[in-house]
Amino acid sequence: MIAHIRRFLMTRRSALAGLALLGLGAPALAQGFPTKPITLIVPFAAGGPSDVIARLLGEHMGRTLGQQVIVENIAGAGGTAGAKRLVSAEADGHTLLIHHLALAAAPALYSNLGYDTQTAFAPVGLINTGPMVIAGKLALPPVDGKSFFPYAKQQAEKLTVAHAGVGSNAHLCAVLISQALSVKLAQVAYRGTGPAMNDLVGGQVDVLCDQSTTAVPQIQSDKIRAYAVTSPERLGVLPNVPTSREAGTEIDMTIWHGLYAPTGTPTAALDKLNGALQAALKDPVVLERFKAVGTSAFPASEWTREAHAKRFAAEVAKWGAALKAAGLTPQNAN
Ligand code: MLT
Repeated sequence: MIAHIRRFLMTRRSALAGLALLGLGAPALAQGFPTKPITLIVPFAAGGPSDVIARLLGEHMGRTLGQQVIVENIAGAGGTAGAKRLVSAEADGHTLLIHHLALAAAPALYSNLGYDTQTAFAPVGLINTGPMVIAGKLALPPVDGKSFFPYAKQQAEKLTVAHAGVGSNAHLCAVLISQALSVKLAQVAYRGTGPAMNDLVGGQVDVLCDQSTTAVPQIQSDKIRAYAVTSPERLGVLPNVPTSREAGTEIDMTIWHGLYAPTGTPTAALDKLNGALQAALKDPVVLERFKAVGTSAFPASEWTREAHAKRFAAEVAKWGAALKAAGLTPQNAN
């Protein structure tokens, strides 16, 4: 009997080895996925908008997948340090990355990424999209959007604008403001807009253009002053805040988050992760939490991995061209 079991196991083992050689073993083995807790890398500091979305999703996806999703903040170099960590992780679906358009913009800004943006990431699915909010510390003289832009132009040399590192949304928004006003603003880089927002509330920096996700709660509790939203329409949760166009200086910027695994992750694991993500995006509780902070889930027609891959490729091309045209060249991240 024992010899029979041993023979069966050996035959099975050599069959699996054969399948692996043919490249067929990995998807089949991934059917038991996930077999341990999943690490979700947030490439910015805790308390920022990427962290908020990651924790909300991670908790939900963990329930669907039957394994805990543990958020790990690996901040630095405009979100590229966290991306680099993902690329060096085992491609088995147990390490994921949440990132936004900065992942697509990075090759136009950094010369030493250490990975190929076009090939290193396996898109899992799109998450949320929404505008940025241009805000100032309460002590800043302008009291509304209309007076903010002329003030910023006049006082450019004295103003400090916080951001989350070169290539972050907050940084790109600061670049757009500088371009629109034809001024140079003094930039202060943080490891994420979580700490940048703390310093805006504390009055150590003057201006921050942050995602609505973390700007809205601070505005609603009167800790900072909102000057304009970067969307074509006003936000339902901030009805008194004008669009930048209404405020006289158009800054058009829409952010989006997506979920990534390292390239080489088995298709079965990617599909299971995409299914768990879709379950979260269907949940009215998640949608309500998004709505409360002025962000939205992507429409269901864009929930597939293919839709994410398509958007990612288009954004890499778009930001490459836009940043080149703006005169920005790739630099060393140090
Ligand atoms: C963060 O979580 O700190 C942000 O996503 C940073 C940004 O891109 O502005």
